[in-house]
Amino acid sequence: MTGADEVLLAARGLRIERPGDRRRPALPLVRGVDLELRRGEVLALVGESGAGKSLTALALLGLCPPGLRMSGAVRLLGQELTGLPARELAGLRGRRIAMVFQDALTAFTPVQRVGDQIGEALRIHRRPRPGRAAARRAAAGLLDAVGVAEPGRVADAYPHQLSGGTRQRAMIAMAMANRPDVIVAAVQRQVLAARSPARPAPAAAR
Ligand SMILES: Nc1ncnc2c1ncn2[C@@H]1O[C@H](COP(=O)(O)OP(=O)(O)OP(=O)(O)O)[C@@H](O)[C@H]1O
Ligand SMILES: [Mg+2]
Repeated sequence: MTGADEVLLAARGLRIERPGDRRRPALPLVRGVDLELRRGEVLALVGESGAGKSLTALALLGLCPPGLRMSGAVRLLGQELTGLPARELAGLRGRRIAMVFQDALTAFTPVQRVGDQIGEALRIHRRPRPGRAAARRAAAGLLDAVGVAEPGRVADAYPHQLSGGTRQRAMIAMAMANRPDVIVAAVQRQVLAARSPARPAPAAAR
């Protein structure tokens, strides 16, 4: 199935816990998450700090931090991710599913202009491979698409010269360069609201 109704990503009974030992009981951190994401949909996980958003996001990439135990099912394009070997997971990341981390500063190289980094991602993933000048223009186009006010200036800047919100948008632009089916992002509400000032900020979680 490839229509608009296609379920790209689904979690069923997702649980993450810190296993117990002789000194302390098991500690549930994520307790039974069910979700379904269809093509074209935006799904928001909203919750206070420590609620388990980042752990859930990692699990949706098939990743579980060392020392924790994950159970339940996560399917990406019909393929079960839990238990998949690291090499196969890595093959899906970027191409099928991309992650935008909370701390966008660590995701960029500090010594290269933002536009060049996004342009590099475009050159790696797009066929026919665009030339450097074309990749640079396309990078500015992506920055514009994610709501960056001065895409040309931002493309010419180094990551540390940007505000946190702009840096997060630039990270989303870089994730989009790969044209993945799903982007998992940790963003602040202002970033989500940026493109639609006339509408109220996105409210509750689903
Ligand atoms: N690697 C880990 N080992 C043990 N406990 C962890 C680990 N990672 C997260 N936790 C715990 O799991 C809970 C959920 O953490 P998580 O990072 O998912 O929260 P969050 O909702 O993303 O919070 P924030 O909004 O602050 O980013 C927290 O209590 C945290 O302390
Ligand atoms: Mg988090």
